[in-house]
Amino acid sequence: MKLKPTKYVWMDGKFVKWQKATIHLITHTFHYGAGVFDGVRFYDTPKGTAIYRLADHTKRLFYSAKAVGIKIPYSEKQINEAVVELLKKNKVKSGYIRPIAWYGEGHMGVNPIGAPINVAVACWPWGVYLAQESIKIMTSSFIRIHPKSTVSDAKIIGHYANSIQAVLEVKKAGYDEALFLDYKGNVAEGAAENIFMVKKGELITPPKGSIMPGITRDSVMKLAKDLSYQVAEKTIKLKDLYTADEVFLTGTAAEVVPVRMVDKKTIGKGQVGPVTKALHAAFMDIVAGKNPKYRKWLTYVNG
Ligand SMILES: Cc1ncc(COP(=O)(O)O)c(C=O)c1O
Repeated sequence: MKLKPTKYVWMDGKFVKWQKATIHLITHTFHYGAGVFDGVRFYDTPKGTAIYRLADHTKRLFYSAKAVGIKIPYSEKQINEAVVELLKKNKVKSGYIRPIAWYGEGHMGVNPIGAPINVAVACWPWGVYLAQESIKIMTSSFIRIHPKSTVSDAKIIGHYANSIQAVLEVKKAGYDEALFLDYKGNVAEGAAENIFMVKKGELITPPKGSIMPGITRDSVMKLAKDLSYQVAEKTIKLKDLYTADEVFLTGTAAEVVPVRMVDKKTIGKGQVGPVTKALHAAFMDIVAGKNPKYRKWLTYVNG
């Protein structure tokens, strides 16, 4: 997805011009993938720009970094402040924030010990990621990375080779997004989203273990409980998904996206179902600052 550059990037403690935010070819993470990132959205609200669950995303960035031995030379507070300052300097009202940390220049060989650590934050305006209306997903022939092969709930750059291969496969077949099964053959998640199904009024999502338990997944589960829906983290078989009343994906970039088809099987009536519709609307109200109950999830850029 082509993006529109902004003016500045925060890089290792300084604001640099977007065009100058470059790295050297001999950068450890570029070769071996052991870097980490996160993805955060910010929204235009009646009280100005607000960042959605910034502290939780930064916490996850540090968790991910620990998984690959990266010691970020800043505190979580300093990263949060850098994000807020970056948005102020770039004067973008809504979009996406990409904090990233990596093993830097001048060290080669798989062992990263001793390589410099770099940290940066970029942001850009970003609209709809997957679709406005509803999407078709296809089960990939690749499974989600095995939880014993890596720290699978960390956002490690190298993990995305798994997602990219799945996306390329399903795009070729005319689908919008890939669905991963886990190593046991159960439904895991999308290429960059968690999955939910609605069956007989109950909202069900796969348990932690073989998924990246998203912040949007957590938001939707809390929100659904507050709206008096029954919510469960339970194993989902592909055949259960095919016969669900509703299916949707959640993710920072994707937000809440209805799924109308899985592997040529129409879900429900092939239209956006009532539970998905209600949760989507409630989620969009929260991020737009229209629900005071969830004020704690928003960081206003101007105080
Ligand atoms: C593999 C994977 N699963 C799930 C998610 C959803 O997580 P979140 O809602 O925190 O963006 C993402 C995106 O970050 C992801 O990359």
